[in-house]
Amino acid sequence: MRLASVLSFMTAAAAALDVDLDSPDSIKAAAKKIAWELMSYYHGNESGQTPGILPGPPPAGDYYWWEAGALWGTMMDYYHFTNDSTYNNVTTTAMLFQAEGPCFCYMPKNWTASLGNDDQGFWGLSAMLAAENKFPDPPPDEPQWLSLAQAVFNTQASPDRHDDTCGGGLRWQIPPTNNGYNYKNSIANGIFFNMGARLARYTRNQTYFDWAKKTWDWEVGVGFMDKDYNVYDGGDIDANCTDLHKAQFSYNAAVWMQGAAFMYNYTNGSAEWQERVAGIVNRTINLFFSTGAAVELPCELKDKNTCKTDMYAFKGFLHRWMANTAKMAPFTHDTIMPVLKKSAAGAMKACSGPPTGYTCGFRWNTGTYDGSTGAGQEMSALAALLSLLVDEPGAAAPVTNFTGGTSKGNNDAGSQPVSFTGFGPVTTRDRAGAGILTALVLAGLLGTLAWMTFGWAENGSGSRKWKVDGKRSMMG
Ligand SMILES: *[C@@H]1O[C@H](CO)[C@@H](O)[C@H](O)[C@H]1NC(C)=O
Ligand SMILES: *[C@@H]1O[C@H](CO)[C@@H](O)[C@H](O)[C@H]1NC(C)=O
Ligand SMILES: *[C@@H]1O[C@H](CO)[C@@H](O)[C@H](O)[C@H]1NC(C)=O
Ligand SMILES: *[C@@H]1O[C@H](CO)[C@@H](O)[C@H](O)[C@H]1NC(C)=O
Ligand SMILES: *[C@@H]1O[C@H](CO)[C@@H](O)[C@H](O)[C@H]1NC(C)=O
Ligand SMILES: *[C@@H]1O[C@H](CO)[C@@H](O)[C@H](O)[C@H]1NC(C)=O
Ligand SMILES: *[C@@H]1O[C@H](CO)[C@@H](O)[C@H](O)[C@H]1NC(C)=O
Ligand SMILES: *[C@@H]1O[C@H](CO)[C@@H](O)[C@H](O)[C@H]1NC(C)=O
Ligand SMILES: *[C@@H]1O[C@H](CO)[C@@H](O)[C@H](O)[C@H]1NC(C)=O
Ligand SMILES: *[C@@H]1O[C@H](CO)[C@@H](O)[C@H](O)[C@H]1NC(C)=O
Repeated sequence: MRLASVLSFMTAAAAALDVDLDSPDSIKAAAKKIAWELMSYYHGNESGQTPGILPGPPPAGDYYWWEAGALWGTMMDYYHFTNDSTYNNVTTTAMLFQAEGPCFCYMPKNWTASLGNDDQGFWGLSAMLAAENKFPDPPPDEPQWLSLAQAVFNTQASPDRHDDTCGGGLRWQIPPTNNGYNYKNSIANGIFFNMGARLARYTRNQTYFDWAKKTWDWEVGVGFMDKDYNVYDGGDIDANCTDLHKAQFSYNAAVWMQGAAFMYNYTNGSAEWQERVAGIVNRTINLFFSTGAAVELPCELKDKNTCKTDMYAFKGFLHRWMANTAKMAPFTHDTIMPVLKKSAAGAMKACSGPPTGYTCGFRWNTGTYDGSTGAGQEMSALAALLSLLVDEPGAAAPVTNFTGGTSKGNNDAGSQPVSFTGFGPVTTRDRAGAGILTALVLAGLLGTLAWMTFGWAENGSGSRKWKVDGKRSMMG
C-alpha cells in the first residue's frame, strides 16, 4: 500500500456513511450514493467495451460473467425501492445484449468457459425480477422479461441438463468440458427451484410448481439440505454426491428460502411450505446473523478473510432475498426485518464516507471500514439498504400475470438451438472426447484438489474455487 492510500484509508476509517435507518428518505439518499459508486465499476456502455458485463472474466478483469447478471437485478431493486430511474436504460440494454440470440437464454458463446447453470441462472433471476417488479418492458420487438426467464428455465428443465447421477438434479457446469461438470450443487439447483416457484406463481402454470417441488425433494434427499435446514454446498458425482462439501454460503440458504416463500405464497399458505419457510428462516438467522450483521461464514473468518471476488456479493443476495421472503410469506416479516435492519446498520458503519466517496467494505461487524473494495462489496451494501424499504407504500409486492404484471411470456422460449461447439445433445463422440479431456484435466487438477480439500477442512472455500483455481478447458 502506498502512503497516500494508507492516509486515505485512515481518514475513511473514521467516517461511516451517515444514514438514519428509521428514515426512508435518508436510506434512499444513501442508496443513491452507493448505487453511483457501484455503477462506477461498469464500463460496458463506453466505446469499445462489451455491453452488459463487469470487467472480466479473469484474467481480463476481476468479475465472472454471472456477477453482472446479479448487478442488474440489484439495480432493478434499486429502481423498485427508490423510484430513481437513472440506471434503467443501461440495465435494459445490458440485460438484452447478454441474452444473445437466437436462443435468448443467457448462454452467450463468449462466456462458455465459465458457464454454469448458476451463472446462467443469475441472469434468469434478474429477468424474473424485472417481470415481478414491473421494470419497464423492453420495446415490443425485443425479447420480454418473462420470456427471458422462461428461456433460462426451459433450457435447464430440458432432458440434456438432467441425469440420474446422485439421483437427479442439475450439474454445476453446463458444457461437459468445463471443470466442475462432475459437481452437483445447491446454488445451481437452488436457482432452478427458485425460478420454478416464481414462474408458477407468476403464470399459475402447475408445471413449474411440479419442477420446483421435485427439485426441493431432490436437494433434501441427496442431503444437501438437512433436517435442520442447513444448506451445504454440494457433492461430486464420482461419489454419488455422498462426499458432501459442507461449506454453508449465505446465498445458498437465501435462494432456497426465497423459493420456499414463493411456494408458500403460491399454495395460499399451505402448512407444508409454511413449516419449511419457518425452518429455513430460523436456521439462517441463527447461523449468519448470530453476531449482529451478516457474516459470510465459510470464508469471513475471525482472524482472516479468505473470501474471493464472487463471495463478496453473497451477503447482498442474503438481504434482498430475505426481504422478499418477508413480502411473500408475511408471517416471517416481524422475524426477518429487525435482523436485516441491525445488519444494515453494521454495513453502513463499514462504509467510508467523504472524502473518498462511498466505498463500502466487507466486514460488517467491526464498526469500521475494513479497506476491502469491489463491486460485490458495494452491491451487498446497497442491497442491505434497499431491503429496509420493503414496507414503503411504493414498493409493491411482486406482481403476477393476474395482478398487474404486463410482461409477455413464451412457453417455447429457449428452445432454439444454441449452435456452438460444446452445447446441444452430447453425442457419443463428444462424450469420448470429454472423457479424455476430463482425465487430463483431473490429472492436472490433483494439486488443486489437494489444496481444495485443505480449504474445506479450513472451513470451506465454495464451489467457485474451481473457477478460481481450476484451469478450465473447453472444446472448440
Ligand atoms: C454509462 O452509464 C453511466 C450510468 O451508469 C452514465 O453516467 C454514463 O454517462 C454512461 N456513459 C456513456 C458513454 O453513455
Ligand atoms: C416516481 O417518479 C416519477 C417521475 O420519474 C413520478 O412521476 C412518480 O410519481 C414517482 N412515483 C412515486 C411513487 O414516487
Ligand atoms: C431511455 O430509453 C428510452 C427509449 O429508448 C428513451 O426514450 C429515454 O429517453 C431514455 N432515458 C434516458 C434517461 O436516457
Ligand atoms: C463477445 O465478444 C466479442 C468480442 O469481444 C464482442 O464483440 C461481443 O459483443 C461479445 N458478445 C457478448 C454477448 O458479450
Ligand atoms: C445415489 O444417490 C441417490 C440420491 O441420494 C440414491 O437415491 C441412489 O440410490 C444412490 N445410488 C447408489 C448406486 O448408491
Ligand atoms: C397473461 O394474461 C393474459 C390475459 O390477461 C393472457 O393473454 C396471457 O396468455 C397470460 N400469460 C401467461 C404467461 O399466463
Ligand atoms: C389459491 O387461491 C386461489 C383463490 O382462491 C385459487 O384460485 C387457487 O387455485 C389457489 N391455489 C392453490 C395452489 O391452491
Ligand atoms: C402472498 O403475498 C402477498 C403479497 O405480499 C400477501 O398479501 C399474501 O398475504 C401472501 N399470501 C400468504 C398466504 O401469506
Ligand atoms: C431454530 O433453530 C435452532 C437451531 O439453529 C433450533 O435449536 C430451534 O429449535 C429452532 N426453532 C424453531 C422454532 O424452529
Ligand atoms: C405450462 O408450462 C409448460 C412448460 O413450459 C408448457 O409446456 C405448457 O404448455 C404450459 N401450460 C400452459 C397452459 O400454458
